[in-house]
Amino acid sequence: MKVLLVNGSPHKDGVTNLALEEVSKMLSKNGIDTEIFWIGNKAISGCIGCGACFKTKRCFINDKVNEFVSKAEAADGFVFGTPVHYAGPSGFIKSFMDRCFYGKGYAFEYKPAVSIVSCRRGGAATTFDDLNKYFTISNMIVVGSQYWNQIHGNNKEEAIKDEEGLQTMRTLGNNMAWILKCIEKGKQDGVQYPEKEKRISTNFIR
Ligand SMILES: Cc1cc2nc3c(=O)[nH]c(=O)nc-3n(C[C@H](O)[C@H](O)[C@H](O)COP(=O)(O)O)c2cc1C
Repeated sequence: MKVLLVNGSPHKDGVTNLALEEVSKMLSKNGIDTEIFWIGNKAISGCIGCGACFKTKRCFINDKVNEFVSKAEAADGFVFGTPVHYAGPSGFIKSFMDRCFYGKGYAFEYKPAVSIVSCRRGGAATTFDDLNKYFTISNMIVVGSQYWNQIHGNNKEEAIKDEEGLQTMRTLGNNMAWILKCIEKGKQDGVQYPEKEKRISTNFIR
């Protein structure tokens, strides 16, 4: 089993990465393979809503998004991390996740996912909620921890001192490993995926 951990910060080795490493350590301790995927600090285009991906299962812009979706197809669980930028997710991760999830939900459904956020002081809860929205519209299983998954610090040196934040990440890693093992056991015992109805898609004027 493998979990992909996404670092949505422009800093490869900053606070977000520190938190992801803490989650990763506990997953590894439980025998789960892990990979931290840094989305980089080059501009990532937002989704233009062309819908091409519904046919091709890939974005027409061939960048980090497609690289990640290929890995996501084979992965068993996900951790998406972001620094708080103006009380919301970083622009990088927002564009990245819009394009990862739109038209490509098949790569994520029925798999566990969590978001983690890093910030100096404020905006953690709104950012956490923002990222969780991608999972709850994609038939995913959101894993909890002992607190909302946030770590505080303006840089890595400060964040290392956030003992509760780091413990929250370790608990999260353990909880996710447990859920993954339960899912695996269910598969071995023949538990089927839920039956899907033909999708009804309405809006408020038709
Ligand atoms: C553009 C920008 C906006 C930020 N906005 C906030 C904010 O709204 N609230 C906050 O507490 N910290 C804010 N910060 C600080 C970062 O969230 C914080 O330093 C974070 O832990 C950095 O994580 P990283 O090292 O993974 O990038 C902001 C930083 C930047 C660069």
